[in-house]
Amino acid sequence: MTNEQGLREIISPSPEVLESAIINNRAVLANMADQDLERFWEEQAKEFVWFEPWKKVLDESQKPFYKWFVGGSTNIVYNCLDRHVLSWRRNKLALIWEGENGDQRTFSFHALNREVCMFANVLRSMGVRKGDRVTIYMGRIPELPIAMLACAKIGAVHSVVYGGFSVEALHGRIEDSQSNVVITCDGSFMNGKVVELKKIVDEALKRCATVEHVIVVKRTGQPVTMEAGRDYWYSDLMGLPVARTANGASRCETEEMDSEDPLFLLYTSGTTGKPKAILHTHGGYMVGVATTLKWVFDLKEEDRYWCSADPGWITGHSYIVYGPLLLGATSFMYEGAPSYPYPNRWWSLIEKFGINVFYTAPTAIRGLMRFGEAWPNRHDLSSLRLLGTVGEPINPEAWRWYYDVIGKGRCPIMDTWWQTETGMFMITPMPETPLKPGSATKPFPGVEADVYDENGNPVETGEEGYLVLKRPWPAMLRTIYKDPDRYVSQYWKRFPGVYFTGDSARKDKDGYFWIIGRVDDVIKVSGYRLGTAEIESALVSHPAVAEAAAIGLPHEIKGNAIHAYVILRAGYEPSEALIEELRNHVGHEMGPIAKPEKITIVPQLPKTRSGKIMRRVLKARAQGLPEGDLSTLEE
Ligand code: WT7
Repeated sequence: MTNEQGLREIISPSPEVLESAIINNRAVLANMADQDLERFWEEQAKEFVWFEPWKKVLDESQKPFYKWFVGGSTNIVYNCLDRHVLSWRRNKLALIWEGENGDQRTFSFHALNREVCMFANVLRSMGVRKGDRVTIYMGRIPELPIAMLACAKIGAVHSVVYGGFSVEALHGRIEDSQSNVVITCDGSFMNGKVVELKKIVDEALKRCATVEHVIVVKRTGQPVTMEAGRDYWYSDLMGLPVARTANGASRCETEEMDSEDPLFLLYTSGTTGKPKAILHTHGGYMVGVATTLKWVFDLKEEDRYWCSADPGWITGHSYIVYGPLLLGATSFMYEGAPSYPYPNRWWSLIEKFGINVFYTAPTAIRGLMRFGEAWPNRHDLSSLRLLGTVGEPINPEAWRWYYDVIGKGRCPIMDTWWQTETGMFMITPMPETPLKPGSATKPFPGVEADVYDENGNPVETGEEGYLVLKRPWPAMLRTIYKDPDRYVSQYWKRFPGVYFTGDSARKDKDGYFWIIGRVDDVIKVSGYRLGTAEIESALVSHPAVAEAAAIGLPHEIKGNAIHAYVILRAGYEPSEALIEELRNHVGHEMGPIAKPEKITIVPQLPKTRSGKIMRRVLKARAQGLPEGDLSTLEE
């Protein structure tokens, strides 16, 4: 079934869903926001504790450098932890965790706050101050959110690097952010194996000298090298008097932050080889993330919520760590692989912990789908009330399976379109929205999306074009760290005055958006965003490679798979062994997710006369499709 056929199917919310939904007047809210955007967001901001109220909701005077809740001061961590600890929620579970090996840990708001306070004191004692950058590179264990929150609490700016990245990706991100402190763990369990994170950190640090301290959480217990004077065990530090106040309390003052003070950097891939450090702030991000999570996932006090993403990506930042805590919800986190030891692991976890709201990615659904219905059918999934998906367009088959087999036809699926840059859901259903499988439906209230042609004119209904966002939103990125010019040129130049998403899309006659995919040099592999240029530079860093080009080709489970073409340097002979070595080299430098599916050794690459590789020609040739306009192709 294609998306076209999917277009005809509409799934209306059941009476039960409608009755219990927090929001049942989406159109009214959208109208309010259209009429007075500032007032709309101001109302939502009042849900939080501000040390100092804002003087202006939105300052557009230096656009596209928009500012939100100007003059206000708060700290997102105060709203995630401090205020809950002062309320009845103190003893409510904030986090339930299960390791791949079956270990279990739980944290009440009190316990989570205690760990965060103590670790914040440790960081302060190491000299970490407001505005300093700290790199976090860990597996999915509770200390990952603890480290993020501890940084934010004292005003430091965290930069989480996904634990599936490797040496060069980590090195580049540590160096660009100029972090003095790196927080990691010895290793983590994934698919029955140990990922040797500390070893990768050691190798990355050989390439950059700025890091003074490495804090290591013991997770797997495998032997690691600890460099005296640089590396410290987390548990040792937490046992020191510096982790407490002078009178021994496990408390730490939360730093007052300006609304616009940076909260975190998160690197994401773009058109050039250098990943972009997307910068988010305390005030607007907090308001945008909490409001969207509450309205879209309909998250209630008594819910148990599970987002299966990794905290190392924006999904995890917004909807594992900050969003659920802001709402005082109970969230579940799992360390390992979905099919370990058997393909029922996720379904067994949903049953075991009574998960009500489950959020995952199409690639994971497709991956688990191929093992058959018997695995989920062995489990009682009746606790589920609502499902979510993100990362890439969901194909109708996967949608149906998710809806019928996992949700038993009862749970609406929230297909949330957003980006690292947007910080929050932008085009998304709410429980009350009639669903069309494969469509992210409509813009969130206050969000104005459109589809433009080459010249910046809206296309006809149903036509494909460039997806743009026409009004600012509170959780929007503020800039690219240290590179404001690139911020302007990447997002605001293509169509002056509007934000260009890098995606193509269609809008149907009901105003529903259908995302098609990236139109830039970004490849979505299993929902992970990778830049062709980064993969190419990893290839070229191998002595045998003179030139390389990477493209994405359709893949049944991953959505897209990386295919690379390389020209060898003189003196190297093509061989299967060399191809395998190159694949492993990319895996070692970038991470296993970036390992090309296939590498082809070629004598030359199609280029323009000015020397730019024409990846679209490679892509067309590989798929046996028409090669399109070749007038710029060099002979
Ligand atoms: C790109 C952003 C934001 C969370 C994870 C990805 C694609 C994201 C959807 C969706 C179709 C989607 C877009 C977007 N994308 N969600 N529901 N339907 N496509 O964040 O790594 O910054 O990637 O993911 O292409 O631009 P990201």
